[in-house]
Amino acid sequence: MTSIAGTIPIVRSAPQESLEHLVDQGPNRFRVHTRAYTDRAIFDAEMDRIFNRTWVFVGLESEVASPGDYKTTFIGLQPVIMTRTDDGRIHVLVNRCVHRGSVLAREARGNACELQCPYHGWLYGMDGTLTAVSERRDPGGYSDAFDAPAGLFRLPRVESYRGFVFASFNAGVAPISEALGRARVLIDRRLDMSPTGHIVLRSKPYIARYQGNWKFILENINDAYHFMHTHKGFVALQARYGDSTGDFGLHKGGSGTAMRAQRFRGNTWDIPGGHAQLERPALDLAQELAGPFGDYYRQLIALRGEEAMLDTAGKISGTIFPNMGMIHQQIRVWRPIAPDLTEVEIYPYELEGAPEAFNAGMLRSQERFYGPSGYGMSDDIDIFARNQQGLAGSAVEWLILERGIDSDEMGPDGLCRGLPSSEAPQRAPWREWQKLMSRA
Ligand code: FES
Ligand SMILES: [Fe+2]
Repeated sequence: MTSIAGTIPIVRSAPQESLEHLVDQGPNRFRVHTRAYTDRAIFDAEMDRIFNRTWVFVGLESEVASPGDYKTTFIGLQPVIMTRTDDGRIHVLVNRCVHRGSVLAREARGNACELQCPYHGWLYGMDGTLTAVSERRDPGGYSDAFDAPAGLFRLPRVESYRGFVFASFNAGVAPISEALGRARVLIDRRLDMSPTGHIVLRSKPYIARYQGNWKFILENINDAYHFMHTHKGFVALQARYGDSTGDFGLHKGGSGTAMRAQRFRGNTWDIPGGHAQLERPALDLAQELAGPFGDYYRQLIALRGEEAMLDTAGKISGTIFPNMGMIHQQIRVWRPIAPDLTEVEIYPYELEGAPEAFNAGMLRSQERFYGPSGYGMSDDIDIFARNQQGLAGSAVEWLILERGIDSDEMGPDGLCRGLPSSEAPQRAPWREWQKLMSRA
């Protein structure tokens, strides 16, 4: 019987040579080669050296809350299923029948006692164990000599941080808490806005595809520099009408000048492991305490203390390399499909225990900017496709990611703090990319 736990998958088409030369770093220099966004062989190498070796975010524990619950997703190009078994454990299994390869679970999520292959009916337990081969003893079936596999390929490492589940094909990867490092702050601050420390998903995600490379969205979430330019239609409308034209929720942008001023406050972070953050200063506490959610803020102060609450309630967005980000009141997950095709899932969440009107107000402002008919997400997706189009030509080889590089403060532990519109959070994933891609 073949073992159920697999080893790191091999991407046979991936080039074997070191690719570190595609990021050119030096004093006051940081450039990325166009091929890193466009070349199919490099994309295959990314699946091999990044997605098959690091931690990849697969979902929330609450998405598989009960025994038998499952969710399907992807790690790079590999379809996977996250399941919960009767003993409460979470498993991540490759969603591929070991017989002749069909995907087992086709729905985004569900609940089952067992997984049955739709092609010839082989049966698996929710932990991936092969429990039955259909018509095994029929004439022309399998003899005692048949070396039946133990079951589905089960990922050797699955760990959670505060209910966020990560999985890895690499048995030797560092524990998730260590791999996240300061990226934990992103999850902590967003969850600590809930009096109970929990978030709740109320709906399926909003899913969009764009015709561009997966690293564009990774770079974009913490990009304070682009906002006033890419979203200038939104800025102009906001400047003209403010929030006076309807129920736009709690994300009041103010005038164009106020929005610009806000963009240039706070810090950026380049965190070892390829993670990145953009932090804005703490909120105006006196104003919040006097506002409609004063009791909620008083409750948070009582629970966390004033100083910690001010940090928590200040704005933060961030990315966890390679495939997840948090911004506003949403979790964003992306998956590479091809060098020029990426799928994005946006999961708005509610803060458990926060006032209903607060959660509703946050959802309204999500819709206004990120929803299918919102102002912002469509701007960004359009830019990603334009980026890819621009990179199709080969006359110019390098992209420049040097903004703010000479004002970055690099700590001895590799944690780097930048000024608010620095490209430090854009350099962060590329530093990790270079490290991982340099390995043959
Ligand atoms: S491919 Fe799954 S049972 Fe044949
Ligand atoms: Fe944007």
